[in-house]
Amino acid sequence: MVSETKLNPEQYKKLSNIVYKASGVVLNEKKYNLLVARLAKRMRLTNMDSVSDYIRLISKSQDEFTEFIDATTTNHTFFFRENKHCEFLIKTMDRTKPLKIWSAASSSGEEAFSIAVQFLANSFSFNIHATDISGSMLKKGQRAIYSKEKMDKMPTYILHSYFQNGKGKWHDHVKVKPEVQKLVTFEKFNLLSDTPFDTYDIIFCRNVMIYFDTPTRQKVVTSLCKALKPGGYFFVGMSENLHGLEHNLSVVLPSGYKK
Ligand SMILES: C[S@@+](CC[C@H](N)C(=O)[O-])C[C@H]1O[C@@H](n2cnc3c(N)ncnc32)[C@H](O)[C@@H]1O
Repeated sequence: MVSETKLNPEQYKKLSNIVYKASGVVLNEKKYNLLVARLAKRMRLTNMDSVSDYIRLISKSQDEFTEFIDATTTNHTFFFRENKHCEFLIKTMDRTKPLKIWSAASSSGEEAFSIAVQFLANSFSFNIHATDISGSMLKKGQRAIYSKEKMDKMPTYILHSYFQNGKGKWHDHVKVKPEVQKLVTFEKFNLLSDTPFDTYDIIFCRNVMIYFDTPTRQKVVTSLCKALKPGGYFFVGMSENLHGLEHNLSVVLPSGYKK
């Protein structure tokens, strides 16, 4: 039961260290309830009665370790979030040249599909690489079915052009049309430890670095800057910035940078 799970300080330290090492996410004391709730869910699903047994399990089972890290991620996202960045790109980018875009920390795909439908509506030629550490979020992105609740910022003509309405029990959901889906590829990528697969014209790395400390942010920014083509654009979340970090980018708009 969620309410019965308790962590002593040593267990809390141990688990938050495991999360930090695996994903870079810092779980300080304020995140105690969050960690307990997510741990309790994994303990329930794996039939573990005690925290020490669960800690032993993740030290032995790579699969459960991966599930635990996945469970500790915060995946909140929605369509057309912080859309000023995309509006800027539509005004700025050259439509005659194919673009490679990376949605790094894509969560369940809303960011990538929001960009895709707007770039399609504006006749860009492009493909989007959507990556995240969370396998369960990547599956949602690949399935491309979303609740209409997440769509309230989307213009109606975009919704009608690029999404199919669900039927029967799915009446309050939509599915991304195949012509949009084929432009977005989902793949697992850990910002902390994986090496970028390619170089990109545009990189979005939004609303993830807030969970990292400065050394991790620096590591991620250095790696993503290398993956950005000269003249390319880099975006962080609207509540984030690159203050105090070394990089070779110039600011072009709030939370938006150019190499
Ligand atoms: C709050 S969501 C942001 C989604 C989207 N970029 C947005 O702005 O709406 C943060 C995502 O970062 C992912 N994440 C956390 N640590 C990560 C890491 N080390 N590597 C890759 N993704 C990570 C989480 O799994 C989560 O899906």
